[in-house]
Amino acid sequence: MSASKSDYFMNIAVIGAGYVGLVTGACLAELGNNVVCVDIDKRKINKLKQGKVPIYEPGLEEIVRKNLTRKRLAFTTKIEKAVNFGEIIFICVGTPARKDGSADLSYLEKAAEQIAKLAKDNKIVVIKSTVPVLTARKVHKILKQHSKSNVEFYVISNPEFLREGSAVKDFMNPDRIVIGGINKEAIRKVCELYRPFNVPILETTPESAEIIKHASNSFLATKISFINMVANLCEKVNANIKDVALGIGLDKRIGTAFLNAGIGFGGSCFPKDIEAFIKVGEKHRCNFALLKEVIKINVRQRKLFVKKIEDVLYGLENKTIAVLGLAFKPNTDDIRKAPAIEIIRLLLDKGAKIKAYDPKAMDNMRKIFPHIQYCNNPYETLANSDAMVLITEWEEFKKLNFEKVKKIMKQAIIIDGRNYLPHNRLERIGFTYVGVGI
Ligand code: NAD
Ligand code: UGA
Repeated sequence: MSASKSDYFMNIAVIGAGYVGLVTGACLAELGNNVVCVDIDKRKINKLKQGKVPIYEPGLEEIVRKNLTRKRLAFTTKIEKAVNFGEIIFICVGTPARKDGSADLSYLEKAAEQIAKLAKDNKIVVIKSTVPVLTARKVHKILKQHSKSNVEFYVISNPEFLREGSAVKDFMNPDRIVIGGINKEAIRKVCELYRPFNVPILETTPESAEIIKHASNSFLATKISFINMVANLCEKVNANIKDVALGIGLDKRIGTAFLNAGIGFGGSCFPKDIEAFIKVGEKHRCNFALLKEVIKINVRQRKLFVKKIEDVLYGLENKTIAVLGLAFKPNTDDIRKAPAIEIIRLLLDKGAKIKAYDPKAMDNMRKIFPHIQYCNNPYETLANSDAMVLITEWEEFKKLNFEKVKKIMKQAIIIDGRNYLPHNRLERIGFTYVGVGI
C-alpha cells in the first residue's frame, strides 16, 4: 500500500457498505481516520461486525479486522449513529440501471433525505456513487428541502475509479483523485483527507467530476469493443489480435491497457454506466451513437463466441461443456452482468450440458443456474467433457497440468474466451485450440 498516513485524522461516515463503501471505509480507517460504515442490510453488517467480509476482495478482510480491533472502524445499521459522527459523509450506495437504462437514483435520494433529517450541524456530503451529471445539484436540493434545522450542506462529487479484484490496491494507489465542488472550504477538507495519497488531485465543478466518471468508464469500454471488432477481422485473415493489440498499444498515445480481446466486458459498472451515459446524452440532445455501437459489439461478442463453440463441436445438442470461470473477471466473486451468464444461457438453449467451476463465484452463480453441475476443481469439471470453455482468466487455470487434462477429456478441445492459455503449447500437446482473434 503506498498511501502514507496523514497527521490530521477525521471522523468519517460511509453510507452503503458494498464494494465501494466498504473499501472506502476500511482504507480511510487504515490511513488513521475514524470511520463508521452504515448499511441497511442487517446480515451484511452482522458479518462485518465480526470481521467477516461478505464479498471476496483480496486484502480487504485483513484491513477490516485490523481496524475493527484498533477501534478505528465500526459498522452499524443505524444511520443516525453515522450521520452525526461524521464531519464528512460519503454516499456509496448503489445506482443500478432502471429498465430504460437510466440510473436509478432512489437509494441515493433516500440516503440524502435521511442525512438531511438527522444532521445536527453542517456537513460535507461526498457523492462517491457513480451518478449522471447534475446529480450533485439535485442532492443539494434534497438536503436543503428535508433539513429540519438551520444546517448547511456542502456537496462534493468524488467519483471512485477502483476495480473489483484489486479494489484495495486501486483505492490506495489511484492514478488521480477528482474532487468536484463549489464551496472552497469543503473542497479543501476533502483534499486534506486525500493528501496522504500524494497523487494529482483535480479540483473541478461537480458537473465536470460527474462527467469524468461516466466518460472514463465509457472510454475504457470503447477500447474493449474496438479491439473486439478488430479481433473479428483478425480471425478471418489469419492475423493475431495479440500482436495487433500490442502493435497499436505501444503507441504511447494509445497505451496497451484495456486492449485484451475476448468475450466482451461485464460487471456491475461498464454495462450500466454506458447505458446511463447514453441516456444522459439523450436527455441533453447529444448524439451518443458511438456508445450504442460499443454495447452492440459487446452483446454480439458473446453470441459469436457461442457460435465458435458450436462450430468446433459440430453442434451442441447433448455435448458436455466444461465452463472454467464464472465471475465477471478474476479475483472477485461478483457475477453481476458476468459474460458467463449469457454464455451459459445460450449453451443451455442449444441443448448443451454444463459442468462449471470457479474458485470464488459458484455460490453466487447457483442462485441463477441452480440446475447446472458445479464441480470441486477444474479436473472434475473437465473429466469426460467435450470441450473446455474458459470464461474467466483465474491464474489457477494457467497452471493446470494440460497433459493430464487431455487424458481425462472426452475430446481435446479448448475454446479460450480470454486468449489466456498457452496457445502454442496446447496445440503441441494435441489440443484443438480456439481463441478470439487468433
Ligand atoms: P453494492 O451494491 O455492492 O453496495 C451498495 C450498498 O449500499 C449495499 O450494501 C446496500 O445495502 C447499501 N444501501 C443502499 N441504500 C442504503 C441506505 N439508504 N443506507 C445505507 N446503505 C444503503 O454497490 P457497489 O458496487 O459498492 O457500487 C456503489 C456505487 O459505486 C455505484 O454507483 C457504482 O456504480 C459505483 N462504483 C462501483 C465500483 C465497483 O467496482 N463496484 C467502482 C467504482 C464506482
Ligand atoms: C471498472 C473500471 O476499470 C474502474 O476504473 C471503475 O471504477 C469500475 O469499472 C466502476 O466504475 O465500477 P471493474 O468493472 O471492476 O472496473 O473491472 P475491469 O477490470 O475494468 O473489467 C471490466 C470488464 O471488462 C471485465 O468483464 C473484464 O473482463 C473486461 N475487460 C477488461 C476486457 O474484456 N478486456 C480488457 O482489456 C479489460
